[in-house]
Amino acid sequence: MPPRTSDRWPRTRHRNRRLWIPLLISALVVALASLESSAPVLRRANALGRRCSPDHVASPASSSGGDTIRPRIAIVSFSDDREVLAASRGGGRPRRSFRGVMETVEGNKRAYAAGMGYDFIDARGLVDRSRPPNWSKILAVRSHLPYYDWVFWNDADTVVMNPAVELENILIAVIGHSDFHASPDLVVTEDFNGVNSGVFFVRRSSWSESFLDTWWNLTSFIRFDSTKSGDNAAMEHLIGRLPPEESRVHVGVAPMQCLFNSYPWFPTWKSVYRLIFSPWTTWQGAYSDGDFMVHLAGLDDKRRWAAKFLQEMRTI
Ligand SMILES: *[C@@H]1O[C@H](CO)[C@@H](O)[C@H](O)[C@H]1NC(C)=O
Ligand SMILES: *[C@@H]1O[C@H](CO)[C@@H](O)[C@H](O)[C@H]1NC(C)=O
Repeated sequence: MPPRTSDRWPRTRHRNRRLWIPLLISALVVALASLESSAPVLRRANALGRRCSPDHVASPASSSGGDTIRPRIAIVSFSDDREVLAASRGGGRPRRSFRGVMETVEGNKRAYAAGMGYDFIDARGLVDRSRPPNWSKILAVRSHLPYYDWVFWNDADTVVMNPAVELENILIAVIGHSDFHASPDLVVTEDFNGVNSGVFFVRRSSWSESFLDTWWNLTSFIRFDSTKSGDNAAMEHLIGRLPPEESRVHVGVAPMQCLFNSYPWFPTWKSVYRLIFSPWTTWQGAYSDGDFMVHLAGLDDKRRWAAKFLQEMRTI
């Protein structure tokens, strides 16, 4: 006699439940093993076929017969040891030390700029003491903008890892052509939190000047927190509030974060969570061999990490 339906189901369910446990265990083992290996895999993202820039990026010289005037570009940066003091307001040791970072990476930036014919400017004289130092990047960019076609802002915790990459080609990869006069004025990358204000390009224009002035004026965003000073949130707010048409014309977002703002990936709780729930964002932003620039965002002891990446770069 064939078993009645009511008999068959409970038995299957019971068998399934017993199957569940080994399945769950093996899934956990596989997950742990793959997390263990995800760091080296992400590190090789480019070798595995990731493309940080579109395949056919015309170089500025070749696209118009070599007679174009190259844009004048300044790389502007600073780090201020007072950041540590600002961060430690409210007691306790600051978690994120910038001490000595600029000294560590300055040679790297200067050598890259000299090799490519850009200017490198250490703008530490321009720090406004009444705000967390990160805000003064706005003053630094604003004050050098009149003398250049583009200013490339770098937070101090960044290292040029592939000095063969030209900034012009990075811009072309974002704007899609090499006519810099018909280009967005602000070129940024996005990470898990949206726009990142640590590394960006600004073109000389009246739009850019007023953007920078308005950004500086968003004083309600100022924070004296150990990890957040509010300048990034203010920039994001400003971009988010632009009318869509203005945003389309004036703000260029890199198709891939790794085009010029890669973050090193380590298996911490936070990064593992992000790997699982935002795998694409992780993939397109994780630092891989061959990337132009590594940004030590979110890492403590930045000087040690900067030195480690510089050492690695010399031995490539
Ligand atoms: C920024 O604030 C200053 C001082 O209040 C003001 O003079 C200036 O017009 C403001 N600029 C913009 C673009 O909002
Ligand atoms: C300043 O910017 C750096 C680089 O992006 C960031 O890591 C750091 O947390 C910022 N500091 C504060 C106090 O926001």
